[in-house]
Amino acid sequence: MAARDDINCFESRYRSGNTPWDTGRPDKNLKEYLAGLVSPGSKVLEIGCGTGDNAIFIAGFGLRVTATEIVPMAMEKAVKKAQKQGIEVEFLLKDIMKEAIPGHPFDMAFDRGCFHHFNSLQDRRRFAKRISGHLNEGGAWLSLIGNADDLRPDMGPPRLKAMEVVEAVEPFFEIMLLKSSYFDSNQNPPPRCWILIGKKRKGPL
Ligand SMILES: C[S@@+](CC[C@H](N)C(=O)[O-])C[C@H]1O[C@@H](n2cnc3c(N)ncnc32)[C@H](O)[C@@H]1O
Repeated sequence: MAARDDINCFESRYRSGNTPWDTGRPDKNLKEYLAGLVSPGSKVLEIGCGTGDNAIFIAGFGLRVTATEIVPMAMEKAVKKAQKQGIEVEFLLKDIMKEAIPGHPFDMAFDRGCFHHFNSLQDRRRFAKRISGHLNEGGAWLSLIGNADDLRPDMGPPRLKAMEVVEAVEPFFEIMLLKSSYFDSNQNPPPRCWILIGKKRKGPL
């Protein structure tokens, strides 16, 4: 679960500016896949929206967006960015692991780098189950996940094996796509990622 430790850890990273994931732009992988997963007027939930660039991009696409965070400082930045651009996003300080997100069911969920930070299969499964519980039947989840095939020894995002992704997600989602790619990053070379697209199952496998 998003324990107090998680909140403290992310909070201190935002405070010190140690946030390599925060590129200041929407991820190119989101840009590539979004249109194929939504229809006009779709309601989208973003989990762990950080400073908001992806949520703002999705809303700018003409969709209704609810974006959640656990770190107030990140969310305050997101709110300011959206206001400055005149884009409407419902930003909520909510922990998906513990709280229902108002506005559900959603047609699509998105996370970039949130699912992958849970260390145990139990927590990753719970996260997938909680996302599924917030979606309409057949709703889609697009997730960008650190990839264990990235063998660089330096610090980078948490990295999962394909099997670890599948083990957590498959009980609740049909896996429509699991593709190796790269995060949109200011680092060179960029960290590898998995692009996951899941379709909510009618019931658990
Ligand atoms: C690696 S950062 C990515 C932020 C943003 N998605 C981006 O790409 O810039 C992961 C984010 O997930 C948030 N987070 C972690 N656990 C969460 C939870 N249980 N519910 C909502 N947000 C969470 C963290 O505070 C952090 O901002």
